[in-house]
Amino acid sequence: MQIGVIGTGIMGSNVSRCLSRKKVKLGFYNRTISKAEMLANEVGGKVYKSPRELVEESDVVIVFLPSDDDVREIAIKISEKGNLKEPHVFVNASTVTPMASLDTMRILDSAGVRYIEGPVYGSADEARECKLISFIACDKTTYDEYKSIFELYSLKTYYVGTPPKASVLKLALNNLGLAFPALLAESLMLLESWGVELELFKEVSETLWFNEIINRYWSRAMEEKPPRFKTWMVGKDYSYVASALKAKKLPSFLSDALSAMYLMASVNGYGEKDYPRIIKYYLELARKTRS
Ligand SMILES: NC(=O)c1ccc[n+]([C@@H]2O[C@H](COP(=O)([O-])OP(=O)(O)OC[C@H]3O[C@@H](n4cnc5c(N)ncnc54)[C@H](OP(=O)(O)O)[C@@H]3O)[C@@H](O)[C@H]2O)c1
Repeated sequence: MQIGVIGTGIMGSNVSRCLSRKKVKLGFYNRTISKAEMLANEVGGKVYKSPRELVEESDVVIVFLPSDDDVREIAIKISEKGNLKEPHVFVNASTVTPMASLDTMRILDSAGVRYIEGPVYGSADEARECKLISFIACDKTTYDEYKSIFELYSLKTYYVGTPPKASVLKLALNNLGLAFPALLAESLMLLESWGVELELFKEVSETLWFNEIINRYWSRAMEEKPPRFKTWMVGKDYSYVASALKAKKLPSFLSDALSAMYLMASVNGYGEKDYPRIIKYYLELARKTRS
């Protein structure tokens, strides 16, 4: 069996490292072909110049692309030459809006490609160690047929129902899980701008219930490390939470604010950095008020 991976960045490359230890062949497609070639050299597998060709030669393709637009663009490239000779399966593991997920499903359907929503929770380490949590949305028969594929790279797999329910569940989890660095950034800005010692804040918080959360982000905020999840993508996820709420005519105060906080740091040079580094960005901003 061949599994294709579209998008060989942080998630796609680490899931490929996981899959290279299973009994499957691998195929790759990436916008910057050289990145896919480097991965193929490391883990074995064939690099494709077109996503359609990769889909045609793979039993399943798993897609890790940054945004709604990228996923739609790839679906169009796969579908624009009409029906594929045999049915193929497209697992969208990217974090997208429910609206884009439904669009992608319609585009692929027109070429006879079966669409499965399969966003994941976990980052580079969990992907490499085959310990992601997968949320799957498709019809139940398709889920039962492909469950063993999701289990190759997942510690746990949840069947959520039909699309776009898995995308919605993933956004709801990220909405909570990614908020803390932004809240911590705002607290530290407040302390720094009024001249209160950050270490004192940290010492006091050691006696409080949220100490574990502060420790989780403190060193990732203060030291430069390779990104596990890029700041601009967290901004994107919050803008997706906001637009999914707006699509239902519901308020999105918090997701709009959090999106703006992450995106402001992104446009000021932090976009490609690990997202807890926004704490460093906002601290620098506060320091300027004291100089
Ligand atoms: N990182 C995480 O912790 C994490 C966890 C869960 C879910 N996710 C989700 O997984 C998805 C991928 O995230 P990531 O962190 O792996 O991002 P990433 O490191 O930026 O990787 C994205 C890859 O997609 C390629 N790409 C972008 N646009 C493309 C296009 N139009 N056609 C073909 N290839 C394209 C990029 O190619 P280039 O080399 O040309 O840039 C890059 O290799 C996102 O939806 C993200 O929200 C991420």
